[in-house]
Amino acid sequence: MEKIIVVDDEEQNLAYLETLFKAHGFQVTTARNGIKALEAAREDPPDIIITDALMPVMDGFMLCREWKADSRLKNIPLIFYTATYTDPKDEKLALDLGCDLFLVKPQEPDVLLDQAQKVMAKYKAERMKIPFGKDGAGEQILQQHNETLFRKLEKKIKQLEEANQIVKESEAKYRSIFENSLTGIYRTTIEGRLLTLNPAFYHMMGYGSPEEVRSQITDIGKQMYLDYHDRENFLQMLNKNNHTEEFITRFRKKDGSIIWVTINAWTVRDENNEVLYYEGMIEDITDRVLREEKLKNAMMGTISIVATIVEERDPYTAGHQRRVAELASAIALELNLPSQQVEGVRIAGLIHDVGKISVPAELLTKPSKLSDIEMSLVQAHAQAGYNILKGIEFPWPILNAIHQHHERINGSGYPLGLSKDNIILEARILAVADVVEAMASHRPYRAALGIDIALKEIEKNKGILYDEDIANVCLNLFRHKGYKIDEGVWK
Ligand SMILES: [Fe+2]
Repeated sequence: MEKIIVVDDEEQNLAYLETLFKAHGFQVTTARNGIKALEAAREDPPDIIITDALMPVMDGFMLCREWKADSRLKNIPLIFYTATYTDPKDEKLALDLGCDLFLVKPQEPDVLLDQAQKVMAKYKAERMKIPFGKDGAGEQILQQHNETLFRKLEKKIKQLEEANQIVKESEAKYRSIFENSLTGIYRTTIEGRLLTLNPAFYHMMGYGSPEEVRSQITDIGKQMYLDYHDRENFLQMLNKNNHTEEFITRFRKKDGSIIWVTINAWTVRDENNEVLYYEGMIEDITDRVLREEKLKNAMMGTISIVATIVEERDPYTAGHQRRVAELASAIALELNLPSQQVEGVRIAGLIHDVGKISVPAELLTKPSKLSDIEMSLVQAHAQAGYNILKGIEFPWPILNAIHQHHERINGSGYPLGLSKDNIILEARILAVADVVEAMASHRPYRAALGIDIALKEIEKNKGILYDEDIANVCLNLFRHKGYKIDEGVWK
């Protein structure tokens, strides 16, 4: 079995050569630099050595020189296999040093093997060749070697300088964005100490410099967040998802005033996936929040007036809408709907009978049972409610909830005869709350039936007229969670 030493400081190259030669019957020894290769060769001389040129500790040229000066090794062929030194002068130097073949990476495996075999065969035929004698030739070669190294170093330094310039330009570009951004940009430690912050950030918080913020704020969770629970929620989301989007909270400024902010943040982790720090961008949205609050108040004022007008005309159902709103939002909460959706359900409940404005008042208060025609006039309130409100843009699906609150799961409801999931969730919740409240309360044409009979109706028709899940949640509220319709609360 022929023996080969392969020398390369790159793990990948070494593994590749080792595999290649092993696969072709060689006994392979690997070395990561010239010194290691010499040690291995002196202990057990190989039949051939193949070496990279540029390596730490001892490069290929020095290895070649030592190799050819060693009486035991000099007759063993040495091949340069390099990608770094590709200048013709390098090849000349290597050959002058006594190298037997100079190959440039990469070579096809077959070619590499073939070349190695040829060199070995040649050596077996003529065992000789002394690269340089003691007449000064060695010194000359050494000088050539130094020149080669110097040339390479010069080239390397130039490349580094160029790369440095690119980094500097890129840094200046990002520095400018950081300094001039209108959005606050920051980096904190896991404990909440600010490491970096841009002018937009410290101006937003009422400070004059980053140093001032850093000296006064040592824990943003406790000193900047108005509500520490917000900070805890924020960190929980951040650690779970690695980022937060549009996280809204309130910050306390240097002068004690409060601002609303939205935070987009992300985690920076090390190679072991441990969090190094948090980074993010912050915007002051106080104006937007106050504007939305005003609009919401105005809308709620209007909704409350509409609810009052409906109930003024229909004293028997006074309080009906409010109680339906309370029960419907209690059901929505039990269904774990987002708070925004729960709010929509509550508001839809407050005005779900707005269409009764268009029903003759005497029908609403008529103490006897209604005729079919009278009934159809009363039933028209669902469509009428839709028509009245359809020009208004609500931030919730109130219009459809009102339109569909008398629709039934089996399609037997009105005005559209919708069924199952074609009825929106808010309307399905309202339907259950409406029936429970209406049956439990007094009506012009009958006395209150009471909550037990109302719940029996829901039980009997769940999955037929009423959404089964919603019906179950409602039954559970009354039967196991102590919900009381008159109080609108449950314990
Ligand atoms: Fe209704």
